[in-house]
Amino acid sequence: MPLTNFFKNKIRKMFSGVDTVILENKVPSYESLGKKFDNIKESGLYLHIPFCRQICPYCPYNKEIYKPEKAKLYVEAVKKEIDFYRNLLGGKPITSFYIGGGTPTTILYNGLYELLEYIYKNFNMQCDIHMESHLNDLSSDNLNTIKSFGIQCLSVGVEALEDKYLEFLKRPYNTKKAKEAIERAVNSGFKCFNIDFIFAFPGQTYKEIEKAGYELAKMGVDQIAAYQLFIFPYTEMWNEIKENNASLLKIFNRKNMLGILENIFYVEKYERTSVWAFTKEGFPKYCSVTVPLYIGLGASGGTCLKDVFYLNTFNVGEYIDKLNNSRMAIALSLDMPEKMQMAWWFYWRIYETRFKRSDFEKRFGKYFDEIYGKYIKLFFLSGLIKKDDGNEIILSDRGTFWLHAFEDLFSIDYINKLWGASKQNPWPEKVAL
Ligand SMILES: C[S@@+](CC[C@H](N)C(=O)[O-])C[C@H]1O[C@@H](n2cnc3c(N)ncnc32)[C@H](O)[C@@H]1O
Ligand code: SF4
Repeated sequence: MPLTNFFKNKIRKMFSGVDTVILENKVPSYESLGKKFDNIKESGLYLHIPFCRQICPYCPYNKEIYKPEKAKLYVEAVKKEIDFYRNLLGGKPITSFYIGGGTPTTILYNGLYELLEYIYKNFNMQCDIHMESHLNDLSSDNLNTIKSFGIQCLSVGVEALEDKYLEFLKRPYNTKKAKEAIERAVNSGFKCFNIDFIFAFPGQTYKEIEKAGYELAKMGVDQIAAYQLFIFPYTEMWNEIKENNASLLKIFNRKNMLGILENIFYVEKYERTSVWAFTKEGFPKYCSVTVPLYIGLGASGGTCLKDVFYLNTFNVGEYIDKLNNSRMAIALSLDMPEKMQMAWWFYWRIYETRFKRSDFEKRFGKYFDEIYGKYIKLFFLSGLIKKDDGNEIILSDRGTFWLHAFEDLFSIDYINKLWGASKQNPWPEKVAL
């Protein structure tokens, strides 16, 4: 579609200041990496556990089948990566910590505690631990273990509440088992317990969404993340959908489905905390990787340090080898001019659906309205913003959906290219987005 590409190129240039975003296989020296930390006061921390007991056909994340021996080596390698960053960070506080995957609970009894201990020994941790899990791992014993490790916020992908959709996703449990596991987790007393739910399956009806929405809202969970089904070209489901000539739901159907869920969740006293997440009023938000600056540990971990973004190799074996050779596992890096940093900041704030001008000004030392004021005016006049008190801006539900759909025109394509290339080649020469 040359016309769409023409406009996408124009918009990219307008917001990021560059014609093409290019990540290159340029590994920074230890000294130059050290300098990047000089003007950082605090950081988020992400830890990627790339193991799962089975591979789901729709999942775009970096993962492989869990093998205990390889996982042990992986844990040792992550500890070496922690050593690198401990020295670079030099005691500055870590203000958010997220363990994602893959499935972090695969290593619940095979290294997770060891890693947490190591992280707490080496970093100045000033935050809760947020971790993803798997529904089949939520036995009472495991939940007790997770809590005893000091993990306060837990998330699980329930994905669907009808057996036919769980089968479509090839999830290894049925609805009855899913509900029992969620009940156990709800009663375990986490600070925040989140469930992921996927909607907009081929052939799914509004009635089914309504039924699922009421069931989700009555489960007593602190947060519900309801994602529309995305199909990435490098996943098995892409081929399945093509072979079966299945058609995906149109954008207006997807918008209406999210609208049905929103209305049910609002009545049940959940408030929107991101494009897809709804948190019970008064509860802390289950955080994901949306913080402005962070260090990413593990295979496919991403690190964002103001003017640079680094991406580790996706290949678990190569990651282990590099660290065993006392090298960092960074495969790709992207230098970000200020305009691109601002666009990145703005992208994630739209994702969170609310933000403060003062936070932008603190980060960039420039007036927010000087850069984005004209867009905010336009969004306000078109009803995409529901509140603007001069500092805080809150998007309306309509604004949330359409602005994010616009962002997805770029981000889905970027993820496909970046993750697709990184999965194919552990050390890509360069990736042009
Ligand atoms: C890393 S997984 C969750 C943790 C755990 N491995 C599990 O399966 O429960 C993160 C979440 O992303 C969502 N997700 C994964 N692939 C998706 C897709 N193609 N479309 C929409 N959501 C997706 C799912 O809801 C999933 O629970
Ligand atoms: S959805 Fe979860 S369990 Fe399935 S492959 Fe992805 S990370 Fe693994």
